[in-house]
Amino acid sequence: MAKLGRSRRLLNGPLQFERYAVYASASIERVANPMTQVLDSDLEHGFGTRAVHAGQAPDPLSGAVMTPIYQTSTYALEGLGRHKGFEYARTRNPTRDALERNVAALEGGRHGFAFGSGLAALDAVLKLLKSGDHVVGGANMYGGSHRLMERVYTQFGLTFTFADMRDLANVTRAITPATRMIYAETPTNPNMHLTDLAALADIAQAHGLVLVVDNTFATPCLQLPLSLGADIVLHSTTKYLNGHSDMVGGLLVTSRDDLAERLGFLQNASGAVPGPMDCWLALRGTKTLELRMERHNRSAQRIAEWLEARSDITAVYYPGLPSHPQHELAKRQMKGFGGMISFDLGDVPRAKRVVEKVKLFTLAESLGGVESLIGHPASMTHASVPPALRQAMGLTDSLLRLSVGIEDVGDLIADLDQALA
Ligand SMILES: Cc1ncc(COP(=O)(O)O)c(C=O)c1O
Repeated sequence: MAKLGRSRRLLNGPLQFERYAVYASASIERVANPMTQVLDSDLEHGFGTRAVHAGQAPDPLSGAVMTPIYQTSTYALEGLGRHKGFEYARTRNPTRDALERNVAALEGGRHGFAFGSGLAALDAVLKLLKSGDHVVGGANMYGGSHRLMERVYTQFGLTFTFADMRDLANVTRAITPATRMIYAETPTNPNMHLTDLAALADIAQAHGLVLVVDNTFATPCLQLPLSLGADIVLHSTTKYLNGHSDMVGGLLVTSRDDLAERLGFLQNASGAVPGPMDCWLALRGTKTLELRMERHNRSAQRIAEWLEARSDITAVYYPGLPSHPQHELAKRQMKGFGGMISFDLGDVPRAKRVVEKVKLFTLAESLGGVESLIGHPASMTHASVPPALRQAMGLTDSLLRLSVGIEDVGDLIADLDQALA
């Protein structure tokens, strides 16, 4: 790969061509990509500035202020082996480049890799491993991630132990000589368990393991796993990063050049890449991430407190509540507590009635959009997890999950009130 000097002038648009020109002499392999590599100049700005500007500049051709949707599968070559850095859109696309660099900069990382879904991003992470390798994963995680590990990758010789990462002694106990990776989600989907990332990173480092953190629930606005010692951050961009429930995507960020080389290779070799339209939608979403998260945090806190004050609810799980067993860790590790709440009604028929009676909350899969959603994890997001394991996770059949949107919080509370009545 061609070595590139880091230009502090990057945000001045047309200079980006210089970087493309250098890339023309680079190998065709999609390795750590000079166009998506985050620069010092990206990182010296505050979060809101990075969200709007990192990875983006007026289009060199037209001056378009917003990154265009480069809806093309292929690019004209100037001659054999000579091009502007783009040959084929599985390998690279300028709209995707912009998103990759933008999210990498938000995470405080150096390299970003976009995928067609969050699970496609996880698929690439697991392909870093080989048959015989062992992974320690969190006992409570998104059901689809668990399914990909247990029902797909075990077929290729990977083995997994799922440990309750609220107590890191469980992680240490699960590590074997074959362990190569630790995979943590925090807060977890759906039980809102937290993992102490700095302490987990110490364990990973002591054992020479790659630490991967799914930061989908918290977003880089509230939590920065790389700064706490993680090696790779994973996102379902479908959720808060996009924020408008109008695309599906995934993204990986790392600062390690060795992992970036490998992930870039896998992204191109396996080809689970997002289209430019979806990248553009995610890129539009990240611009308002900080504003949206402020509102999600505020409204979710109010709703969690309101739910907790009711006598007809068995348990409320929200890291912003002082009653959350890991509230102190949440205050230390997160800048805000997010928009996700789970609560247990202790009564399955009632839980089913509530999801059908809400009017503003929509009964739907997914989360992280501007609109409020309600879900029943046992039969929806976590239906693929065997019932016994769901029980062991603390995921009961009467648990409901809220993704609190940005509507007026008074209206959301009134809706829940009538549904719970
Ligand atoms: C925490 C978490 N990680 C990963 C995923 C998978 O993302 P996608 O649905 O984009 O494949 C999800 C999906 O709900 C999720 O909630």
